[in-house]
Order: sequence, then C-alpha cells, then structure tokens
Amino acid sequence: MLWYVETVIRILPVYIANATPPVFSKFNVLGLRRPVDGGKLWIDGRRILGDGKTWQGLILGTLVGGLIGFLLEHFGYGSFSLGLLMGFSALAGDMVGSFIKRRLGMKRGANAGLLDSLDFLTAGILISYPFVRWKSGEILLLLIATPIVHRIANIIGFKLKLKKEPW
Ligand code: CTP
Ligand code: MG
Repeated sequence: MLWYVETVIRILPVYIANATPPVFSKFNVLGLRRPVDGGKLWIDGRRILGDGKTWQGLILGTLVGGLIGFLLEHFGYGSFSLGLLMGFSALAGDMVGSFIKRRLGMKRGANAGLLDSLDFLTAGILISYPFVRWKSGEILLLLIATPIVHRIANIIGFKLKLKKEPW
C-alpha cells in the first residue's frame, strides 16, 4: 500500500482516541465526568488542567484507542495493546497541552492554534516510537497533515454540536 496511506492508518488510534471525549461529553458515564485535576489550582492560582480534562475522556479515549488497535490488528497495522498505549498517549499529550494553556492564562476552550493539534500527536508518536519506529518522512507528513485534519474534524464536531468551539 502507498506509504502515506499506511501512515494515516497507523496513527488512527491516536486520532480517534483524541476525538472520543467530545462525543461523550454530554453524558456522565459511570460518574466519571469529573476533572482529572480534581478542581485543584496550580501555584499560579489557576487550574492545573481545567474542567475540559475529565476521567471519562481519558478512560474512554484510551479504550477506544485499544478498540481501533484491535480492529487494525486484523489488517496487520497494530494491536489492542498498542492501540491502548497510543490512545492513552494522545489523551496524556492533550492534558500536557491544557496544562501549558492554563499556565499561559488561557481559559478552557481558548484557541491555542498548533498547540491544540500537535500536543496529542507529539505524545502519540513519541510514546509509540519504540513499537512503531516512525520514519522521519512519516513524522513530517503527520506534523503537516494533522493540524488540517484536526481543524476540519473540529468544524464538523462544532456543527454536530459535539464541540462548543469550531477549533
Ligand atoms: N474532554 C474530556 N476529557 C478529556 C479531554 C476532553 O471530557 N480528557 C471533553 C471536554 O468536554 C472538552 C471537550 O472534550 O471540553 C473538548 O476537548 P478539548 O478541546 O481538548 O478541551 P477544551 O474544552 O478546549 O479545554 P482546553 O482549553 O483545556 O484544551
Ligand atoms: Mg479545545
């Protein structure tokens, strides 16, 4: 198969895990829609992560990453455990992004541009690297394509009323 199609297939657990939390944000599954930071403040008096980062998003995103990995295994592009790891990495990177946003004084949902689209991708690539051995051309493609895919997905999510902001 074409190398760039394969690259997009391999990164799917990261993409789909990252898109999972907004899909469930109207529900409180098993009471897990609680902020990961427990509502606590950092030393600067601002929230550590904010209300946009919940246990529900972290757990469901990780599980969906595993499910995608499981489905891809059938085609030889990963595994359940690699999918779980990639899903968790995406959501962990997303939390690092929120941590940085809060330190910069940005409110929940504020548009952080490339930080919003590259935080989850960078973590997903780095943490899966020992298992996937991404090539430099593949990483470059993902760094360029992801902000575009992310923007389009967010506009769709906004129109479907899954997201409060179109970014
Ligand atoms: N979400 C969640 N748990 C996560 C990540 C996301 O519940 N770990 C849900 C929240 O409802 C969040 C929505 O998905 O509002 C959109 O995610 P995102 O854009 O990453 O969060 P923001 O609300 O923009 O917050 P931040 O400014 O911290 O990025
Ligand atoms: Mg956002």
